[in-house]
Amino acid sequence: MEANVTTNEFLDPVLAQLRAAPRRWLVTGSAGFIGSHLLENLLRAGQQVTSLDNFSTGHQANLDEVRRLVGEEAWSRHTFIRGDIADLASCAQACDGAEIVLHQAALGSVPRSIKDPLTTHRSNATGFLTMLEAARTAGVKRFVYAASSSTYGDSPTLPKVEDTIGRPLSPYAVTKYLNELYAEVFGRCYGLSTIGLRYFNVFGPRQDPNGAYAAVIPRWAAQMLEGSRCVINGDGETSRDFCFVTNAVQANLRAGLCEEPEASNQVFNVAVGDRTTLNQLHGALAEALLRECPALRVEPPQYASFRAGDVRHSLADVSKARRLLGYQPSHDVRAGLLEAIGWYVQRARQTV
Ligand SMILES: NC(=O)c1ccc[n+]([C@@H]2O[C@H](COP(=O)([O-])OP(=O)(O)OC[C@H]3O[C@@H](n4cnc5c(N)ncnc54)[C@H](O)[C@@H]3O)[C@@H](O)[C@H]2O)c1
Repeated sequence: MEANVTTNEFLDPVLAQLRAAPRRWLVTGSAGFIGSHLLENLLRAGQQVTSLDNFSTGHQANLDEVRRLVGEEAWSRHTFIRGDIADLASCAQACDGAEIVLHQAALGSVPRSIKDPLTTHRSNATGFLTMLEAARTAGVKRFVYAASSSTYGDSPTLPKVEDTIGRPLSPYAVTKYLNELYAEVFGRCYGLSTIGLRYFNVFGPRQDPNGAYAAVIPRWAAQMLEGSRCVINGDGETSRDFCFVTNAVQANLRAGLCEEPEASNQVFNVAVGDRTTLNQLHGALAEALLRECPALRVEPPQYASFRAGDVRHSLADVSKARRLLGYQPSHDVRAGLLEAIGWYVQRARQTV
């Protein structure tokens, strides 16, 4: 599937900075959604990248797509390790020689963690600690990791500001909060420089539309394209700060390169700073799909009960990331949907 390489006034300067001084990166979770975009952008920008994945939720097809998009010269600068982040030897091998780690590997999904907390804990808590230990032993300069907006838990405060969190609502949220605590302590005890990025509902091409734990946007896109009705859990007024993956890529690269001492050993919201309800999302997604497929008939949504562990509203204050990382989201939800829609359509055509 071809993706256009579009110009982006906020990401391009970071890519140019990378090209000027190539570095050695490690991306974990590279066969997954966000990790594969990090890999793609780093390779396009002339970097040397090792990546690690155990294919528990990621796919070889994502790596194949990145290879096709970046070309063979860029791909030759990539070394893939099939391994598990709960295995210290695999983490040590992956961290060997890496200057900057972008740690994405984890098991996503609140419902998955409620159904099977032990498996989530193994990847997200034990695996995280194992990666930290391997990174500090290898002398990594910066350890950037995927934190989560789920850490805000039951805090009613809107917008969410990094310092004010509530109590976790799921085992997944516990693991993501634990990541932050361990990262901070590795900074304090061992001098490891970490930056946590609290993602808010990231979406875009290569996000898995299949399975019980699929995220809402790719799942709904696939359902609309096959003519089935989307299910909204609750009354549809639940809201989220949906963040296009290019924004998350920019935040990671800026965090990896950031030399501002105040940013080290901190956590940052990564989102747009704009809230969309599920009802609005259904409408916006249908509108974007109809532009691409004018003959499509989109069914009205079905409403079901609220899901356990879900927070009601989520909206980020991204001013800390703007101030200390220089982060500037380039895509709001509608711009992101328009850019992702071609991928959803091609993906649906391939699966019929
Ligand atoms: N997508 C979002 O909206 C979102 C929101 C908040 C946080 N996050 C976090 O961002 C990160 C990336 O999420 P994603 O959406 O790309 O998910 P994803 O499932 O597409 O990617 C995760 C990747 O990690 C790999 N992985 C999982 N456990 C592993 C293990 N034990 N060893 C090695 N590899 C392992 C999987 O195979 C997969 O390729 C995760 O840490 C997730 O918790 C994502």
